Amino acid sequence: MTPTTNLKLGQENPPESEKQAIAAIIKLSQDLLNKASDPVQRQQHPKSHGCVKAEFTVEDVPEHFRIGVFKEPRTYRAWIRFSNGSSNVQSDLKGDVRGMAIKLVGVSGEKLLEDERNAETQDFILINYPVLFLQDAQDTLAISKALLAVKNMPIAPLKPLPFLLMFAPFHRKQVGILKTIRQQQMANPLQAKYWSTTPYQLGSHAIKFAAIPRELESMKAGVPTSKSDNFFREAMVQQLSQQDVYFDFAVQVQTNAERMPIEDATVEWSEQESPFIKVATIRIPKQQFDTESRRAFDENLSFNPWHALPEHKPLGGVNRVRKKVYQVISKLRHQLNQKNKQEPKDEDFDSQP
Ligand code: HEM
Repeated sequence: MTPTTNLKLGQENPPESEKQAIAAIIKLSQDLLNKASDPVQRQQHPKSHGCVKAEFTVEDVPEHFRIGVFKEPRTYRAWIRFSNGSSNVQSDLKGDVRGMAIKLVGVSGEKLLEDERNAETQDFILINYPVLFLQDAQDTLAISKALLAVKNMPIAPLKPLPFLLMFAPFHRKQVGILKTIRQQQMANPLQAKYWSTTPYQLGSHAIKFAAIPRELESMKAGVPTSKSDNFFREAMVQQLSQQDVYFDFAVQVQTNAERMPIEDATVEWSEQESPFIKVATIRIPKQQFDTESRRAFDENLSFNPWHALPEHKPLGGVNRVRKKVYQVISKLRHQLNQKNKQEPKDEDFDSQP
């Protein structure tokens, strides 16, 4: 357990055991990747509901937020991919973590990843719940071991056993959060709220971020009425054939180092203590995105919280784990698919129909 006393705002505090844990997680993640599917898909969040074109318009934000992509009011073009979290591609009717991954293009300046210094992208990755079900690298290692044992269990009805025996008894809070996330009702990924769950730098502040849908009316009717396995994609196709969709993109500043920890992604930062403040508008224009070519483009993309300017550096143990894991897994799946792994460019935006 990481000591949390005497910490300064925004300060990271990696435990000594972390490097070893991350090395083990990388190995386990490679073993967890389903290499038999064609194409080889993402190891987590393989099922996409759609990869859509969007605009990310930075507002005239307060002085202390004018950093990185929020430096001045302007509009970035962006790709947004909505997904299910499970490593199995399964029916949308099954409870799951739901993802929203935003990639701004045309972002100048050196980026954090050594291999992709000159990439022109800035990613923001979110799920449909304010906290994650993993505290840190140790939790990630424990769940990865259990999931590999599940994958390798030869007797189908006994598959849940390793998770129940190896992870659940020692991680009750984490399993409780996972259960609650899986119970979240959603009728349409375009009408849900999403959170970063993990902290990021914003200049001298540490922040979390969220995407908040404008369409509150239909959110009230958030219970799915369709029985289709792919009803999220169908709902998105229908809504985007008729109208533009808007989200507010907002940041929440860390104001207390103990109650709003950097190193524990299972703790929600209180909105009473520090409310989310809008910094940008996301517009997803009316469009037809459900095409073969867009699906192929989507499969080939890689999101990574470390696709970022140094001003937006990811913070905390979970994000330090993600740095290497996303790179290694994305590289491996691209190699297995014999595809070029390359960040998209602003000028390619229009050439993608
Ligand atoms: C230590 C914890 C985590 C690990 C090990 C992990 C691992 C991964 C991996 C391996 C991928 C696939 C990468 C690829 O093939 O390109 C992925 C995708 C994804 N992860 Fe995580 N993840 C973690 C935490 C999180 C958190 C905190 C969030 C958001 C709050 C998140 C949201 C997502 C989403 C939305 C995607 C899909 C991105 C896309 O659309 O391509 N993950 N994750």
